[in-house]
Amino acid sequence: DRSEQRTERLFADEAGIKRAADLILSGKTVSFATETVYGLGADATNSAAVAAIYAAKERPQFNPLIAHVADVSAADALVCIPPALEPLISDHWPGPLTLVLPKKSDMVSDLVTAGLSTLAVRVPARASARAMLRAVNRPVAAPSANPSGRISPTTADHVLSGLDGKIAAVLDDGPCDVGLESTILGWEDGPVLLRAGGLSVEAIETALNCSVRSTKGEAITAPGQLLSHYAPQAALRLNATQAEPEELLLRFGDGPSDWTLSPTGDLTEAAANLFAMLHRADRVATRIAVMPIPQTGLGLAINDRLNRAAAPR
Ligand code: TXA
Ligand code: MG
Repeated sequence: DRSEQRTERLFADEAGIKRAADLILSGKTVSFATETVYGLGADATNSAAVAAIYAAKERPQFNPLIAHVADVSAADALVCIPPALEPLISDHWPGPLTLVLPKKSDMVSDLVTAGLSTLAVRVPARASARAMLRAVNRPVAAPSANPSGRISPTTADHVLSGLDGKIAAVLDDGPCDVGLESTILGWEDGPVLLRAGGLSVEAIETALNCSVRSTKGEAITAPGQLLSHYAPQAALRLNATQAEPEELLLRFGDGPSDWTLSPTGDLTEAAANLFAMLHRADRVATRIAVMPIPQTGLGLAINDRLNRAAAPR
């Protein structure tokens, strides 16, 4: 297989960050930590490099990707930002928020936007990611660094277990803090939720002082939001109150255990643990059950990921 290569594990010091940036500038794919999940990055202005992301992930179709930039002024050069979004941006960029807005320039490859007239942009908060983006000094396209359809990675080991030999490097900066992908927000005469994620809808509504329209029930607006996604190998049962025979129960707010998303019922902690615990459970069990998670705050995004993981496949 000509796509086999040696994958370098880089540490997120100055030399590692410089090496990661140089690899991206030379058209290679590099996984890097963000505060949400590990991304698989490539130069967004280089179509061949972006195509290599799809090849490594074995994505069945060209879903549009998020362009990552180091700061708000770099985002401003790529998309038209409605003035009404400014309070949200000043409160939550850098952070786990992606904005889908009309694109302003042709700098980014059409493979990133999948030919759409809008572009998804995000300023990640993780310091090593921002330092790498500053060194690249170009937008970096990055989906989550997992083989298509599998659980998203929140450690460098997760990345290597799925993509070792298929990508040039992983910039290891320890576990991700948020543990869920960014919230994706569009704008159609007002804010529209395209994907629940690491920034709660409540926090967005507070910053904007208006309500966010939800697209739930409407046609899928974020292409690539397929129902079966984030899937473990094991069978997954939701809203479980106790384990059935042969099931491993992931608990929530149910006191200490090796297998609890949060012993105290804290949604932020549960979000941070979700993917790592699914990866770990998948290695030891063939049936996983999960206790109910409340549908508020980050619970929206947790339940979204769990519902996709449990969908028929
Ligand atoms: O936290 C995150 O967002 C992570 C890290 C690496 O930043 N990235 C991530 O990327 O989750 P990905 O490719 O797994 O999800 C991006 C989603 C796609 O499923 C697509 O539906 C949506 O963003 N998207 C991208 N561009 C879009 C556009 N122009 N219009 C609508 N949806 C778009
Ligand atoms: Mg993904």
